Amino acid sequence: MRLSNKVAIITGGASGMGRATAALFAREGASIVLGDVDKTAGEAAAAEIRAAGGRILFQPCDMQVESEVSALVQTAETQFGKLDILFNNAGIEQPLTASDVLDTALFERVIDVNLKGTFLGCKYAIQSFLRTGGGVIVNNSSVSAYANVGGNLSYAASKGAIMSLTRVLAIEYARRNIRVNAICPGVIDTGMNRRNLDLAADPDALAEKWMSATPMGRMGTGEEIAETVLYLASDQSSFTTGIGLLIDGGRVAT
Ligand SMILES: NC(=O)c1ccc[n+]([C@@H]2O[C@H](COP(=O)([O-])OP(=O)(O)OC[C@H]3O[C@@H](n4cnc5c(N)ncnc54)[C@H](O)[C@@H]3O)[C@@H](O)[C@H]2O)c1
Repeated sequence: MRLSNKVAIITGGASGMGRATAALFAREGASIVLGDVDKTAGEAAAAEIRAAGGRILFQPCDMQVESEVSALVQTAETQFGKLDILFNNAGIEQPLTASDVLDTALFERVIDVNLKGTFLGCKYAIQSFLRTGGGVIVNNSSVSAYANVGGNLSYAASKGAIMSLTRVLAIEYARRNIRVNAICPGVIDTGMNRRNLDLAADPDALAEKWMSATPMGRMGTGEEIAETVLYLASDQSSFTTGIGLLIDGGRVAT
């Protein structure tokens, strides 16, 4: 029970890494507000975790909309009394596209959801932490902040910027008992990568590219990510702030 008496918000919690992390956090004793733009999948994820004994509620939230992000934090405070942890996880992919013909509206949307959404989550979580005396943020960056296969410019730019944002916040609030870290997952078996493969001109070639770039030769799982998020969210990592923790099967070591 590494998170007993803790209150956590998990964004993008309806599927993939967010959902796996919500299930683990609930087993570790946290009370959870799950936010996601997908209402049906979010309600279903929360219902499943509640049926297994978890304390969790779902609230629809589009991370691009400031009032909806601040409302998530308000819900944690009114329903569970405070906020201790934010897993700022919601994000979208950019279908692989040559950068010289990348649609500007798509670029803006990816930056809006991934980067502005991460900023808004941090902004309102930190306001809450300052009221109560501290807290922890784990942002979901990506191995894409360091290594890419090309054709994902807006996504890689958003994830690189999340690393910079994480470092700035870690420094700014280090003496206010607020830790801010990021995870940098490699290729993980979630809906995002299933969509990436579906949209690829040659899905087998793309999968082969990913696997040959990953020394472990496989995709990671949402559960493997959840264990790392738990480490960074819990007091086990109490002297760690401002890092991006790679969970990438060895990819950046190559
Ligand atoms: N899958 C990978 O290989 C990989 C690698 C590195 C980083 N990531 C990052 O991990 C995070 C989780 O992705 P995943 O792989 O679990 O994919 P996923 O698609 O299964 O989950 C993403 C969730 O975010 C939600 N979402 C999308 N836009 C939103 C918005 N505007 N507001 C609120 N919620 C929104 C989706 O509805 C979905 O439930 C993302 O930030 C992604 O960029 C993924």
